[in-house]
Amino acid sequence: MGKRKCKHPAKVAVMLSIGAGLLAWKKLGNQRAAFNAGGGKTAVITGASSGLGESFARQLANDGYNLILIARRRQKLENIAQELISRHNIAVTVIAADLVDTNDIAQLTSQLAAMDDIVMLINNAGFGSRGDFVDVSARSHREMIDLHVTATAVLTRAVLPNMIAQRSGAIINTSSTAAFFRGHDRVNYGATKLYINAFSESLQIELEGTGVRVQALCPGFIRSGFHEEIGRPSLPNFLWMKTDEVTTVSLNALNKKPVIVVPGWANQLEVFLTKIGLGSALLTLFYYLSGKKK
Ligand SMILES: NC(=O)c1ccc[n+]([C@@H]2O[C@H](COP(=O)([O-])OP(=O)(O)OC[C@H]3O[C@@H](n4cnc5c(N)ncnc54)[C@H](OP(=O)(O)O)[C@@H]3O)[C@@H](O)[C@H]2O)c1
Repeated sequence: MGKRKCKHPAKVAVMLSIGAGLLAWKKLGNQRAAFNAGGGKTAVITGASSGLGESFARQLANDGYNLILIARRRQKLENIAQELISRHNIAVTVIAADLVDTNDIAQLTSQLAAMDDIVMLINNAGFGSRGDFVDVSARSHREMIDLHVTATAVLTRAVLPNMIAQRSGAIINTSSTAAFFRGHDRVNYGATKLYINAFSESLQIELEGTGVRVQALCPGFIRSGFHEEIGRPSLPNFLWMKTDEVTTVSLNALNKKPVIVVPGWANQLEVFLTKIGLGSALLTLFYYLSGKKK
């Protein structure tokens, strides 16, 4: 039997090169270059007891940062802290605080303002809700605003003076692709996340030349405690990201310019579609895929 000859060698070569390029790009995207914030290297993470916050803690511990971990569930924080201390020989402080409680927030802000070794603040604590605006309690709406908006602003205000004085620092505010969509099920959530984007973009303009970087991290669907609380929509696998994938993109992006960081090609495509006016069509598709009527 004679050897079969490929009819389109040039086309095959181009396809193979594109495939190899995509694979290399994906692999590079999953590697991390540590952000060099300099100074005493203490990172503060809110919502560190699970999901994205826990992943940020693990990644930064691996980079040698000392950590201040904040959330309400003290035992969860203690367990993470013990593991990271013994594995990485770093200092980890646990602060159990409810960031919608005015006393807790006041105490925390004065504690953080008094520290001069904080080089990174990650405002990550957050929660979602399901249902139309009128069907969710007023209390829940207020707590969401207190957590996503007020806590982000006042904690940032507490650490900034020292970062500016040291001419080095990074602030990551966890937002969401929900900031780009308008529709059912996301009235208050999307609005608070939009605040985070606007806050971060304007703050970065004010901080130009100070050595302090600001980022609004806008993930889409992530496998975390978030959807355990409000119910996980049944959407195709490619729409879901792992927490480590998201935090890797975020920390890598600190070395680059953009304030708004959207991790993952599917989320970037979604955001692009919202920008060309196809957001509501996309939401209708999500509602359909997840079995909702709207
Ligand atoms: N999962 C997603 O699909 C998704 C997508 C886009 C954006 N996000 C955003 O990502 C961030 C992290 O969420 P996640 O997905 O990692 O969910 P998660 O696993 O539920 O984590 C939420 C964290 O926030 C903390 N938290 C909630 N309420 C708090 C309060 N009142 N005071 C202090 N801490 C509080 C929780 O800790 P305690 O319960 O111990 O207090 C927990 O550590 C949120 O801002 C969320 O909006 C998530």
